[in-house]
Amino acid sequence: MRIVVINGPNLNLIGMRSPEIYGSTSLEELNASCRSWAADLGATVDTFQSNHEGDLIDRIHAARDAHGIVINPGAFTHYSYAIRDAIEAVGIPTVEVHISNVKDREPWRQISVVSDVCATTIFGRGITGYRDALRHLVARAAWPVETIEYGPDQDNVGDLRIPHGPGPHPVAVLLHGGFWRNTVARDLLDAAAVDLTERGWATWNVEFARVGGGGGWRATTADVAAALSSLIEFAQGHHLDLDRVVAVGHGSGGQLALQSAVGSDEPAISAVVALAPIGDLEAAHRAGIGADAVGAFMRRAPEQSPERYATASPIRNLPIGVPLLIVTGDEDDRVPASISREFAGRAADEGDTVVYHELEGVGHNELIDPATQAWTKVAEEIDRLR
Ligand code: DQA
Repeated sequence: MRIVVINGPNLNLIGMRSPEIYGSTSLEELNASCRSWAADLGATVDTFQSNHEGDLIDRIHAARDAHGIVINPGAFTHYSYAIRDAIEAVGIPTVEVHISNVKDREPWRQISVVSDVCATTIFGRGITGYRDALRHLVARAAWPVETIEYGPDQDNVGDLRIPHGPGPHPVAVLLHGGFWRNTVARDLLDAAAVDLTERGWATWNVEFARVGGGGGWRATTADVAAALSSLIEFAQGHHLDLDRVVAVGHGSGGQLALQSAVGSDEPAISAVVALAPIGDLEAAHRAGIGADAVGAFMRRAPEQSPERYATASPIRNLPIGVPLLIVTGDEDDRVPASISREFAGRAADEGDTVVYHELEGVGHNELIDPATQAWTKVAEEIDRLR
C-alpha cells in the first residue's frame, strides 16, 4: 500500500514555529516518523511539502495512482476550494490532519472547506495524528466500509462493515473512548472493527457528538441512542440479526455502552462489552481522571447536580439487565482498574450476569489493539456472546 503524505504552507517550519501549539518535532523528523509508522503497517510513504497552492494541487493530482493521501493543507484548509476540488477529483481515500486543535482556536480555523471530501479529519493529537491517519487508511483498505449518516449533525455518522457469508450477522456496535472529547474519534476502533468483522460480526463503529463539538452527557447519549435505532433502517438490506446486538465500549465509550443498554428500546441490546469502562462517574470525578473529563462531560460536579449523575452513571442504574463482559488491565493509567473491578462486583451483587477479567501487565489501549494478546482474549470472549 502506497500513501502520499502532503503538508501545506508553513509546515516546513514546525519545530520552531509556535512550539506551544505545533510541538518541537521538525518536518524532517515528522516525515521520518511517517515512513517508520507506515513500515510498521506494511505500507510505504512518499512525503511532500510546499508553500504554494498550485504545487500542492499538482502533487495531489500525481497521487492518483497511490492508495491514499494524508494531507495537512495548513491555512489553505480554511479557504482553498481548489485544493478541495483536487482531492475530490483524484477520488482516492484522503485523511485531513491538523496538528493543533483547530476546533478550539480562532473561528476562522474552525472552518474546513476540505473535510467534506475527506474520509475523516484528525485534529488536536499533535504529530501522532499523522500516525492515526496512516492507520485509518490501512484499516479502510483492509475491509470494505460503508459510512452511513444516521442523523443531521456532522458527527451523526458511523462505519458499517459486513462480514463474509449470507448472514444474518450478529452486530457489534462500537463506542470509542477518549474521555468523550472531540479530538478522539472512531478511528481509534478501526483495527478492532476490522478484526471483529473478520471474525463474523457486522460492526457499526459510530461517531457521536463529543465535548468541544456540541457534545456533553445529554447530546452524546442522544446521539448514541439514534445510532443504535438507525440499525433498524439498514438491518434488512445488510442481513443484520437485530436479536444479537452487542454494545462494545472502551473507556468513556464503556459508560455509553452500559447506559445504552439501560435505556435501550429498539433494537434491544443483548449484551454489553465494557473495556476499562468509566462505570462510576462519581468515582471517576473524584479521581479527576482525564484532566476532569467527567466534569467537562457532565458540566456539573456531582454535588451540584446529583440527579444528573444518578441518570448518567452506570453504577447508579444497576442491574443493567443484560450479560456484561468487563475487561480491564491492571496497569491501566487512564481508567484505574479499581473502577472496573468495583463496578463488576456491584453489578453482580445487583443481579447482573458478569464475566470480569483483570489482565495482568495490560494498560488502556492494549484492550482495543488487535496486535496484542489482551485483544485476542477480549475478542475470544466477545465471540462467546454471539
Ligand atoms: C494546521 C492548522 C492551521 O490552521 C494552520 O494554518 C496551520 C497548521 C495544524 O496542523 O494544526 O498551518 O493545519
